[in-house]
Amino acid sequence: MKKIIIDCDPGIDDSLAIMLALNSPEVEVVGITIVAGNSPVEMGFENAKKVLSFLGRLDVPVYAGASKPRVREYVNALDTHGEDGLGESFLPDVEGQDIPEKSAVQFMREVLMEGDVSVVALGPLTNLAKLIDECPDAFLSIERLVSMGGNFRSHGNCSPVAEYNYWEDPDSAKHVFDFLYKNNREIEMVGLDVTRKIVLTPEILEDMKNANEVVGDFVEKITDFYFKFHWEWEHIRGCVINDPLAVAQFINPEILKGIQAFTEVETGGISMGQTVVDSMGFYKKSSNAKIFTEVNVEAFWELFLTRILNVSSEEYGKLFSKYF
Ligand code: BDR
Ligand code: CA
Repeated sequence: MKKIIIDCDPGIDDSLAIMLALNSPEVEVVGITIVAGNSPVEMGFENAKKVLSFLGRLDVPVYAGASKPRVREYVNALDTHGEDGLGESFLPDVEGQDIPEKSAVQFMREVLMEGDVSVVALGPLTNLAKLIDECPDAFLSIERLVSMGGNFRSHGNCSPVAEYNYWEDPDSAKHVFDFLYKNNREIEMVGLDVTRKIVLTPEILEDMKNANEVVGDFVEKITDFYFKFHWEWEHIRGCVINDPLAVAQFINPEILKGIQAFTEVETGGISMGQTVVDSMGFYKKSSNAKIFTEVNVEAFWELFLTRILNVSSEEYGKLFSKYF
Protein backbone atom coordinates (compact mmCIF):
# COMPACT_ATOMS: atom_id res chain seq x y z
CA MET A 1 0.00 0.00 0.00
CA LYS A 2 1.29 3.43 -0.96
CA LYS A 3 0.49 6.31 1.33
CA ILE A 4 -1.06 9.42 -0.21
CA ILE A 5 -2.39 12.79 0.79
CA ILE A 6 -5.17 14.03 -1.47
CA ASP A 7 -5.01 17.82 -1.71
CA CYS A 8 -8.26 18.95 -3.27
CA ASP A 9 -11.13 21.41 -3.68
CA PRO A 10 -14.29 19.29 -3.78
CA GLY A 11 -15.81 19.79 -6.25
CA ILE A 12 -17.73 17.19 -8.23
CA ASP A 13 -14.81 15.41 -9.92
CA ASP A 14 -12.65 15.72 -6.78
CA SER A 15 -15.36 13.71 -5.02
CA LEU A 16 -15.19 11.00 -7.67
CA ALA A 17 -11.40 10.94 -7.25
CA ILE A 18 -11.76 10.49 -3.48
CA MET A 19 -14.16 7.61 -4.13
CA LEU A 20 -11.64 5.94 -6.44
CA ALA A 21 -8.76 6.33 -3.99
CA LEU A 22 -10.70 5.01 -1.02
CA ASN A 23 -11.87 1.97 -2.96
CA SER A 24 -8.38 1.05 -4.13
CA PRO A 25 -6.31 -1.43 -2.12
CA GLU A 26 -3.03 -0.09 -3.54
CA VAL A 27 -3.35 3.21 -1.67
CA GLU A 28 -3.79 4.34 1.87
CA VAL A 29 -5.25 7.83 2.07
CA VAL A 30 -3.53 9.22 5.16
CA GLY A 31 -5.39 12.49 4.96
CA ILE A 32 -7.33 14.88 2.76
CA THR A 33 -6.27 18.51 2.67
CA ILE A 34 -8.54 21.20 1.32
CA VAL A 35 -7.64 24.25 -0.70
CA ALA A 36 -9.84 27.10 -1.92
CA GLY A 37 -10.68 26.38 -5.54
CA ASN A 38 -13.92 25.15 -7.00
CA SER A 39 -15.53 25.95 -3.68
CA PRO A 40 -14.45 28.13 -0.75
CA VAL A 41 -12.29 26.17 1.67
CA GLU A 42 -14.98 25.68 4.36
CA MET A 43 -17.41 24.37 1.76
CA GLY A 44 -14.72 22.07 0.35
CA PHE A 45 -14.19 20.75 3.89
CA GLU A 46 -17.93 20.04 4.30
CA ASN A 47 -18.07 18.37 0.90
CA ALA A 48 -15.12 16.10 1.65
CA LYS A 49 -16.93 15.04 4.82
CA LYS A 50 -20.12 14.36 2.87
CA VAL A 51 -18.25 12.06 0.49
CA LEU A 52 -16.45 10.32 3.36
CA SER A 53 -19.75 9.86 5.14
CA PHE A 54 -21.27 8.29 2.02
CA LEU A 55 -18.29 5.93 1.84
CA GLY A 56 -18.46 5.16 5.57
CA ARG A 57 -14.89 6.47 5.92
CA LEU A 58 -15.16 9.37 8.34
CA ASP A 59 -12.03 7.97 9.95
CA VAL A 60 -9.95 9.64 7.20
CA PRO A 61 -8.80 13.01 8.59
CA VAL A 62 -9.56 16.21 6.67
CA TYR A 63 -7.67 19.48 7.17
CA ALA A 64 -8.45 22.94 5.84
CA GLY A 65 -5.76 24.88 4.04
CA ALA A 66 -5.47 28.12 2.08
CA SER A 67 -8.62 30.18 1.77
CA LYS A 68 -7.28 32.22 -1.14
CA PRO A 69 -4.56 32.21 -3.78
CA ARG A 70 -1.06 33.47 -3.07
CA VAL A 71 -1.29 36.85 -4.79
CA ARG A 72 -4.51 37.39 -6.64
CA GLU A 73 -8.08 37.50 -5.38
CA TYR A 74 -10.01 34.26 -4.97
CA VAL A 75 -12.50 33.37 -7.72
CA ASN A 76 -14.64 30.31 -7.03
CA ALA A 77 -15.93 27.89 -9.68
CA LEU A 78 -19.42 27.41 -8.28
CA ASP A 79 -20.78 28.21 -11.74
CA THR A 80 -19.28 24.87 -12.79
CA HIS A 81 -19.82 22.85 -9.60
CA GLY A 82 -23.15 24.26 -8.36
CA GLU A 83 -23.91 26.57 -5.47
CA ASP A 84 -23.05 23.87 -2.89
CA GLY A 85 -19.90 22.85 -4.80
CA LEU A 86 -21.36 19.38 -5.17
CA GLY A 87 -23.61 19.76 -8.19
CA GLU A 88 -26.51 21.21 -6.18
CA SER A 89 -27.11 17.81 -4.67
CA PHE A 90 -27.69 19.65 -1.37
CA LEU A 91 -26.63 16.64 0.66
CA PRO A 92 -26.97 17.36 4.39
CA ASP A 93 -23.88 18.50 6.29
CA VAL A 94 -22.24 15.80 8.37
CA GLU A 95 -22.93 16.58 12.04
CA GLY A 96 -20.18 17.06 14.59
CA GLN A 97 -17.33 17.50 12.12
CA ASP A 98 -15.55 20.77 12.84
CA ILE A 99 -12.54 22.08 10.98
CA PRO A 100 -9.52 20.96 13.02
CA GLU A 101 -7.13 23.51 14.42
CA LYS A 102 -4.19 21.89 12.70
CA SER A 103 -3.84 23.42 9.24
CA ALA A 104 -3.46 21.47 6.03
CA VAL A 105 0.14 22.65 5.67
CA GLN A 106 1.01 21.66 9.22
CA PHE A 107 -0.47 18.21 8.63
CA MET A 108 1.43 17.80 5.36
CA ARG A 109 4.63 18.87 7.05
CA GLU A 110 4.34 16.30 9.82
CA VAL A 111 3.29 13.40 7.63
CA LEU A 112 5.69 14.06 4.76
CA MET A 113 8.69 14.27 7.05
CA GLU A 114 8.01 10.66 8.04
CA GLY A 115 8.85 9.68 4.44
CA ASP A 116 7.29 7.46 1.74
CA VAL A 117 4.20 9.62 1.28
CA SER A 118 2.97 10.93 -2.08
CA VAL A 119 0.65 13.81 -2.87
CA VAL A 120 -2.13 13.76 -5.43
CA ALA A 121 -3.12 17.39 -5.96
CA LEU A 122 -6.54 17.99 -7.50
CA GLY A 123 -6.95 21.71 -6.96
CA PRO A 124 -4.92 24.92 -7.12
CA LEU A 125 -1.37 24.45 -5.80
CA THR A 126 -1.65 27.03 -3.00
CA ASN A 127 -1.19 24.60 -0.09
CA LEU A 128 1.87 23.08 -1.74
CA ALA A 129 3.41 26.49 -2.48
CA LYS A 130 2.95 27.37 1.19
CA LEU A 131 4.58 24.11 2.18
CA ILE A 132 7.63 25.04 0.10
CA ASP A 133 7.89 28.32 2.00
CA GLU A 134 7.28 26.85 5.44
CA CYS A 135 9.17 23.59 5.17
CA PRO A 136 11.01 22.95 1.90
CA ASP A 137 12.40 19.68 3.26
CA ALA A 138 8.90 18.32 3.75
CA PHE A 139 8.01 19.29 0.18
CA LEU A 140 11.14 17.58 -1.11
CA SER A 141 10.22 14.45 0.83
CA ILE A 142 7.12 13.94 -1.33
CA GLU A 143 7.60 10.59 -3.00
CA ARG A 144 5.49 11.26 -6.11
CA LEU A 145 3.66 14.49 -6.85
CA VAL A 146 0.78 13.97 -9.27
CA SER A 147 -1.18 17.10 -10.13
CA MET A 148 -4.36 17.52 -12.13
CA GLY A 149 -3.79 20.80 -13.88
CA GLY A 150 -2.40 22.61 -16.88
CA ASN A 151 -2.56 21.85 -20.57
CA PHE A 152 -0.04 21.46 -23.38
CA ARG A 153 -1.62 21.13 -26.83
CA SER A 154 -5.21 21.20 -25.69
CA HIS A 155 -7.06 24.49 -25.27
CA GLY A 156 -7.78 25.78 -21.77
CA ASN A 157 -11.04 25.54 -19.89
CA CYS A 158 -11.19 28.99 -18.34
CA SER A 159 -9.24 30.99 -20.90
CA PRO A 160 -8.10 30.02 -24.40
CA VAL A 161 -4.80 28.83 -22.95
CA ALA A 162 -5.25 28.11 -19.24
CA GLU A 163 -6.68 25.29 -17.18
CA TYR A 164 -8.65 26.19 -14.02
CA ASN A 165 -6.40 24.87 -11.21
CA TYR A 166 -3.30 26.69 -12.46
CA TRP A 167 -5.27 29.74 -13.62
CA GLU A 168 -6.87 30.12 -10.18
CA ASP A 169 -3.51 30.45 -8.46
CA PRO A 170 -0.82 30.83 -11.12
CA ASP A 171 1.71 32.23 -8.65
CA SER A 172 1.56 29.07 -6.55
CA ALA A 173 1.71 26.83 -9.59
CA LYS A 174 4.76 28.72 -10.82
CA HIS A 175 6.38 28.52 -7.40
CA VAL A 176 5.93 24.73 -7.35
CA PHE A 177 7.24 24.19 -10.90
CA ASP A 178 10.21 26.53 -10.33
CA PHE A 179 11.12 24.90 -7.03
CA LEU A 180 11.00 21.46 -8.63
CA TYR A 181 13.29 22.67 -11.39
CA LYS A 182 15.81 24.07 -8.91
CA ASN A 183 15.84 20.77 -7.07
CA ASN A 184 15.96 18.56 -10.11
CA ARG A 185 12.59 16.99 -9.42
CA GLU A 186 9.50 16.38 -11.53
CA ILE A 187 5.77 16.83 -11.15
CA GLU A 188 3.43 14.43 -12.99
CA MET A 189 1.12 16.83 -14.80
CA VAL A 190 -2.25 15.31 -15.63
CA GLY A 191 -3.58 18.11 -17.80
CA LEU A 192 -6.52 18.73 -20.07
CA ASP A 193 -4.78 16.98 -22.99
CA VAL A 194 -5.62 13.69 -21.31
CA THR A 195 -8.52 14.48 -18.97
CA ARG A 196 -10.69 15.77 -21.82
CA LYS A 197 -10.77 12.20 -23.14
CA ILE A 198 -12.50 11.01 -19.96
CA VAL A 199 -16.18 11.76 -20.53
CA LEU A 200 -18.85 10.29 -18.30
CA THR A 201 -21.85 9.97 -20.63
CA PRO A 202 -25.54 9.52 -19.72
CA GLU A 203 -25.32 5.94 -21.05
CA ILE A 204 -22.39 5.02 -18.81
CA LEU A 205 -24.16 6.59 -15.86
CA GLU A 206 -27.29 4.56 -16.59
CA ASP A 207 -25.27 1.34 -16.54
CA MET A 208 -23.52 2.46 -13.37
CA LYS A 209 -26.94 2.53 -11.74
CA ASN A 210 -27.66 -0.93 -13.13
CA ALA A 211 -24.41 -2.24 -11.68
CA ASN A 212 -24.67 -0.60 -8.27
CA GLU A 213 -27.79 1.41 -7.56
CA VAL A 214 -26.54 3.14 -4.40
CA VAL A 215 -23.26 4.37 -5.90
CA GLY A 216 -24.87 5.09 -9.28
CA ASP A 217 -27.54 7.25 -7.63
CA PHE A 218 -24.93 9.15 -5.64
CA VAL A 219 -22.88 9.83 -8.78
CA GLU A 220 -26.03 10.92 -10.61
CA LYS A 221 -26.95 13.34 -7.82
CA ILE A 222 -23.60 15.08 -7.92
CA THR A 223 -23.02 15.04 -11.70
CA ASP A 224 -26.42 16.10 -13.05
CA PHE A 225 -25.49 19.80 -12.75
CA TYR A 226 -22.09 19.10 -14.36
CA PHE A 227 -23.81 17.44 -17.34
CA LYS A 228 -25.91 20.57 -17.88
CA PHE A 229 -22.86 22.82 -17.56
CA HIS A 230 -20.92 20.82 -20.15
CA TRP A 231 -23.82 20.87 -22.58
CA GLU A 232 -24.27 24.61 -22.22
CA TRP A 233 -20.57 25.49 -22.57
CA GLU A 234 -19.02 22.86 -24.78
CA HIS A 235 -21.93 20.94 -26.27
CA ILE A 236 -20.58 17.76 -24.72
CA ARG A 237 -23.13 15.08 -23.77
CA GLY A 238 -22.05 14.09 -20.29
CA CYS A 239 -19.16 15.56 -18.36
CA VAL A 240 -15.38 15.51 -18.33
CA ILE A 241 -14.20 14.01 -15.05
CA ASN A 242 -10.67 15.32 -14.66
CA ASP A 243 -9.58 14.51 -11.13
CA PRO A 244 -10.07 10.71 -10.95
CA LEU A 245 -7.56 10.37 -13.79
CA ALA A 246 -4.80 11.73 -11.54
CA VAL A 247 -5.63 9.12 -8.89
CA ALA A 248 -5.77 6.41 -11.57
CA GLN A 249 -2.34 7.48 -12.82
CA PHE A 250 -1.00 7.27 -9.30
CA ILE A 251 -2.33 3.72 -8.94
CA ASN A 252 -1.31 2.55 -12.41
CA PRO A 253 1.40 4.65 -14.09
CA GLU A 254 0.80 2.74 -17.34
CA ILE A 255 -2.49 4.55 -17.93
CA LEU A 256 -0.84 7.76 -19.16
CA LYS A 257 2.08 8.39 -21.48
CA GLY A 258 3.79 11.62 -22.36
CA ILE A 259 6.96 13.61 -22.51
CA GLN A 260 9.39 15.09 -20.04
CA ALA A 261 10.06 18.78 -20.46
CA PHE A 262 11.01 21.98 -18.71
CA THR A 263 7.73 23.72 -17.95
CA GLU A 264 6.94 27.14 -16.58
CA VAL A 265 3.65 28.70 -15.53
CA GLU A 266 2.70 32.19 -16.75
CA THR A 267 1.43 34.42 -13.93
CA GLY A 268 -0.03 37.44 -15.67
CA GLY A 269 -1.49 39.03 -18.75
CA ILE A 270 -3.61 37.38 -21.35
CA SER A 271 -2.01 33.95 -20.88
CA MET A 272 -2.17 33.89 -17.07
CA GLY A 273 -2.09 30.31 -15.79
CA GLN A 274 -0.80 28.82 -19.03
CA THR A 275 1.73 26.01 -18.76
CA VAL A 276 4.50 26.79 -21.23
CA VAL A 277 5.97 23.39 -22.06
CA ASP A 278 9.40 23.52 -23.71
CA SER A 279 8.93 20.29 -25.63
CA MET A 280 11.51 21.38 -28.25
CA GLY A 281 14.22 22.17 -25.72
CA PHE A 282 14.59 25.87 -26.63
CA TYR A 283 15.68 26.82 -23.12
CA LYS A 284 18.13 23.92 -22.71
CA LYS A 285 16.82 23.33 -19.20
CA SER A 286 16.33 19.97 -17.53
CA SER A 287 12.83 18.60 -17.16
CA ASN A 288 10.73 19.47 -14.13
CA ALA A 289 7.54 17.88 -15.45
CA LYS A 290 6.14 14.74 -16.99
CA ILE A 291 3.50 16.10 -19.32
CA PHE A 292 0.93 13.49 -20.25
CA THR A 293 -0.37 13.47 -23.79
CA GLU A 294 -1.89 10.02 -24.28
CA VAL A 295 -4.38 8.11 -22.18
CA ASN A 296 -5.50 4.50 -22.23
CA VAL A 297 -9.18 5.40 -21.91
CA GLU A 298 -10.32 1.82 -21.54
CA ALA A 299 -7.84 1.04 -18.77
CA PHE A 300 -8.98 4.13 -16.88
CA TRP A 301 -12.64 3.20 -17.04
CA GLU A 302 -12.06 -0.39 -16.04
CA LEU A 303 -10.08 0.70 -13.00
CA PHE A 304 -12.49 3.49 -12.06
CA LEU A 305 -15.73 1.59 -12.50
CA THR A 306 -14.70 -1.76 -11.03
CA ARG A 307 -13.42 0.08 -7.99
CA ILE A 308 -16.16 2.57 -7.27
CA LEU A 309 -19.00 0.19 -8.18
CA ASN A 310 -17.33 -2.77 -6.53
CA VAL A 311 -17.89 -5.08 -9.52
CA SER A 312 -15.63 -7.78 -10.98
CA SER A 313 -13.79 -7.35 -14.29
CA GLU A 314 -16.21 -9.86 -15.78
CA GLU A 315 -19.29 -7.87 -14.74
CA TYR A 316 -17.55 -4.70 -15.91
CA GLY A 317 -16.95 -6.31 -19.31
CA LYS A 318 -20.60 -7.27 -19.73
CA LEU A 319 -21.95 -3.83 -18.96
CA PHE A 320 -19.29 -1.37 -20.03
CA SER A 321 -16.90 -2.76 -22.64
CA LYS A 322 -19.33 -1.69 -25.38
CA TYR A 323 -18.53 1.94 -24.61
CA PHE A 324 -14.76 1.94 -25.11
C1 BDR B 1 -10.01 21.14 -12.65
O1 BDR B 1 -10.71 22.28 -12.20
C2 BDR B 1 -11.82 21.88 -11.42
O2 BDR B 1 -13.00 22.42 -11.93
C3 BDR B 1 -11.86 20.39 -11.41
O3 BDR B 1 -12.18 19.93 -10.10
C4 BDR B 1 -10.49 19.96 -11.83
O4 BDR B 1 -9.62 19.80 -10.73
C5 BDR B 1 -10.21 20.99 -14.14
O5 BDR B 1 -9.75 22.10 -14.81
CA1 CA C 1 -10.44 19.76 -8.44
